[in-house]
Amino acid sequence: SELLELAEKMPKAELHLHIEGSLEPELVFKLAKRNNVRLNYASVDELKAAYSFNNLQEFLDVYYAGMSVLLTEDDFYDLTWAYLKRVHEDRVVHVEIFFDPQAHLERGVPLSIQLAGIHGALEAGKATLGISYRLILSFLRHLSEESALETLQLARPYLNQLDGFGLDSSEKGHPPEKFARVFAECKKLGKPITVHAGEEGPPEYVWQALDQLEVDRIDHGNRALEDDALVQRLVATGQTLTVCPLSNLKLCVVDSMQDHPLVTMLEKGLKATVNSDDPAYFGGYMMDNYRAVIDQLPLTREHLHQLARNAFAGSWLSEADKKKHL
Ligand code: HPA
Ligand code: ZN
Repeated sequence: SELLELAEKMPKAELHLHIEGSLEPELVFKLAKRNNVRLNYASVDELKAAYSFNNLQEFLDVYYAGMSVLLTEDDFYDLTWAYLKRVHEDRVVHVEIFFDPQAHLERGVPLSIQLAGIHGALEAGKATLGISYRLILSFLRHLSEESALETLQLARPYLNQLDGFGLDSSEKGHPPEKFARVFAECKKLGKPITVHAGEEGPPEYVWQALDQLEVDRIDHGNRALEDDALVQRLVATGQTLTVCPLSNLKLCVVDSMQDHPLVTMLEKGLKATVNSDDPAYFGGYMMDNYRAVIDQLPLTREHLHQLARNAFAGSWLSEADKKKHL
């Protein structure tokens, strides 16, 4: 369709992508073999059969199992390079990606190894594919404040390779305020912050992210729609929401794509964007997400332009670089 062609040809930015969530089943098996890691799945098909989730936690259990094959610098490089090559086909020209260092530190993989691979591939992608990037260190909210603070200490020698900080993993029972002191430290470093809030957790978690963490973006934010005063606040302050349609469908945040609030968000003046979250697990990359919402929602040309503009405007590019895209 005409809308699909427009979505394909627009230069796009992806702001919500967990690099470990781009680990395709085929690469899981290749790396398992390379590293002599035993998997609890006999084949690619058996692994893929496990990709059926009723909620966030069921997904996270499979996500952490999948990433257990990531051990060497080459593994992190190959993972990141595969993602960049794939989204280049979708005309993604800027990416702001998360990685979960604590999940790899737990397996004995030093931060230096993780970063050498991820950052090396990001630099190669910039040089050969023309994809600009920001790299976001994301803390795991199911772990303690102390663990997050230790991780931040470990990161201090690498701050030149880290563009911001995030918060992900099991949301319910782990409100943003649990990490108020951690993110205050991040702010002191002069880095932007973004936290997952209102995916499964209540509007109260989005308020905390704004008032206690002073975030620069909200990841997901779907449940903000339950609170009119919160919507007003997000609109008035021009907060970017990094929305993930296929993720929301696969994790049962919405019952069907027809029920997805993306258009409602735009109509209310919220700065929503389209992102893939964990594309290897949720059924697709940037264009798969656009295709799903174009198929199932009453999107217009103007909405598509708005979505693309929102992503560049809400990115952490310099004002001069944003202007080139807006
Ligand atoms: N939500 C929370 N944590 C995550 C996600 C998500 O969608 N993806 C990877 N870690
Ligand atoms: Zn996410």
